[in-house]
Amino acid sequence: MNHTVLTGDRPTGPLHLGHYFGTLANRVRLQDLHQVFVLVADYQVIIDRDLPGGIQANIDDLLLDYLAVGLDPRKVTIFQHSAIPELNQLLLPFLSLVSVAELQRNPTVKDEIAHSSQAAVSGLMFTYPVHQAADILFCKGTLVPVGKDQLPHVEVTRLVARRFNERYGTVFPVPEAMMGDAPLLSGLDGGKMSKSRGNAIALKASEDETAALIRAARTDADRHITYEPESRPEVANLLLLAGLCTGRAPEEIAEEIGDGGAARLKGMLTEAVNEFLRPIRKRRSEVDVAEARRVLHEGNARARELAVRTLAEVRQAMGF
Ligand code: TRP
Repeated sequence: MNHTVLTGDRPTGPLHLGHYFGTLANRVRLQDLHQVFVLVADYQVIIDRDLPGGIQANIDDLLLDYLAVGLDPRKVTIFQHSAIPELNQLLLPFLSLVSVAELQRNPTVKDEIAHSSQAAVSGLMFTYPVHQAADILFCKGTLVPVGKDQLPHVEVTRLVARRFNERYGTVFPVPEAMMGDAPLLSGLDGGKMSKSRGNAIALKASEDETAALIRAARTDADRHITYEPESRPEVANLLLLAGLCTGRAPEEIAEEIGDGGAARLKGMLTEAVNEFLRPIRKRRSEVDVAEARRVLHEGNARARELAVRTLAEVRQAMGF
């Protein structure tokens, strides 16, 4: 089965190991099998903050991370919202296909509002799942690799595609979500891994930064190391990360460390992470920002061609 795969990230900071094991590794695998589109979702940055911040620096970082982990611009189209007017214009007809009540009960939107630091919730917050439907449907995406939190948006996309096809004749495929099967990594403090919480190892972190983050990681009082995700989540999470970086079972690593305690575990984990990140760091140092921007520029041109075509089809189907 040949898929058109679309996924993306908000350019709000560098990507970390959670992104790598959660989705980036999967994208690198998919690029050899399917047509893959990766969106730098720059207009999504302003759904939960007033200003886009250092947007260009964050876009550069994201592009370098993509290229460093092995996304190949000859296979993958990397593009951004703000360069594709026709993609954004799909938002208009798509908004007419959903009700205000449907927008208001989206669980991901509710959750983002709860965690937002903004004084007032913007209209863009409510409409962004529909904008995300435009992200997916402009290229007639059929497969959307996402984390669990994004499933409601894929549901909105399916709804939009089905309703459009019913009203105006079939234009869009109804895409499927693809859930990552990677085990969920927590942050180094045991909480949700997030760049804003300072508990994540960025792919671009240096060896010393990596060592310092792991040294400060939370463990527990039991000196004997065991893999027990339920009762010892912090220790289990470090073992899981060591396992992912070395391709070994966390139980086996726990057994090996045994009475060596948290210090041994952290020493071993630092080795493992630095070893794992070495080729990624090397590739990152080999691409410069100008080259990364060129990749985006070319991706934008390819994506735009498709968006122009899809918008024309949409207008025609609607009788405009
Ligand atoms: N909303 C996604 C996130 O915050 C990023 C994103 C934008 C996306 N458009 C998309 C993901 C389309 C999948 C498909 O992580």
